[in-house]
Amino acid sequence: MDNQIRRIGILTSGGDEPGMNSAIRAAVRTCCLHNVIPVGIYRGYNGLIYSDVKELTSDSVAGLNSKGGTMLYTARSQEFMTEEGQNRAVTTCRYLGIDGLIAIGGDGTFRGARALCAKGINTVCVPATIDNDIACTSYSIGSDTAANTAIDIIDKLSDTMQSHERCSVVEVMGRHAGYLALYVGMSTGATSILLPEHAFDFETDVVERIRKGKYHGKHHFLIIVAEGVGKTSEIAQRIESEMGIETRVSIIGHVQRGGSPSARDRSMGTRMGHRAVEELIAGNSNLVICYREYKITTVPIEEALQMKKTLDPYMLQVANDTYM
Ligand code: F6P
Repeated sequence: MDNQIRRIGILTSGGDEPGMNSAIRAAVRTCCLHNVIPVGIYRGYNGLIYSDVKELTSDSVAGLNSKGGTMLYTARSQEFMTEEGQNRAVTTCRYLGIDGLIAIGGDGTFRGARALCAKGINTVCVPATIDNDIACTSYSIGSDTAANTAIDIIDKLSDTMQSHERCSVVEVMGRHAGYLALYVGMSTGATSILLPEHAFDFETDVVERIRKGKYHGKHHFLIIVAEGVGKTSEIAQRIESEMGIETRVSIIGHVQRGGSPSARDRSMGTRMGHRAVEELIAGNSNLVICYREYKITTVPIEEALQMKKTLDPYMLQVANDTYM
């Protein structure tokens, strides 16, 4: 048997992210260019378990760049976490003649890909998560659009907070990571940004910063709380009761995962989807496509899973220094 790649399966797994469609589109078009048949696998790893698949064509991905979500649907497959589920997925790949697989998603998706590689299925991952918490890459598809969506909402919120001279406590998604909250907080000129990576002191990081704003003539305040901090309502209650400022809570939630992808997410999705196919065709596997030092590159999946992302404390300092 030769090692030529004839059919490449493409799936999206975990949370949907704006820009996933660009990665799918690029992967499909790159397959077509190399006379490889692209196979869409629906609903994440469940699609492999249940043979929920369809051959794709260049035409089937036309106009996809501007669409949010994922045309392949997605799932967090519990069944795939079992040995039996993984074996069924491998059987599907063998039966359908899928020689290579592209798994688009976050670290849960990478763990699934690692299991498939260990069972002999050539797999390459594309990082996609609004949390941007994957250590091996400085950028994961989705987080730019999510930040822009949150910023747009907060700008609107600021108008009404300003009119009522209130404090707004806004929860930004990110699971256990504070990247999105920090990026959004810096871009909206937040009074205070509270992140899971940095222990905070209510007096210093909230009260004093509101007082500083007041001293400089501010009448409305914005506190950004990362989802991973988990104390959004409590913080709002304390501001109202201890400082006597009328305060409202807004949890932005899943709207951050929707919408037409930004230029950055479309271009990153395109570059990473293209590279994933090129790697498989070149005979490489067990990799995560990464963006590092302005270049698209690769890291072995195992290495990617061992790495831990830290948040640049300087970014928080810059956000704080430039508030007032
Ligand atoms: O990982 C992306 C993310 O949106 C996180 O920010 C959030 O904690 C989680 O997914 C929400 O997951 P679900 O869509 O299952 O509610």
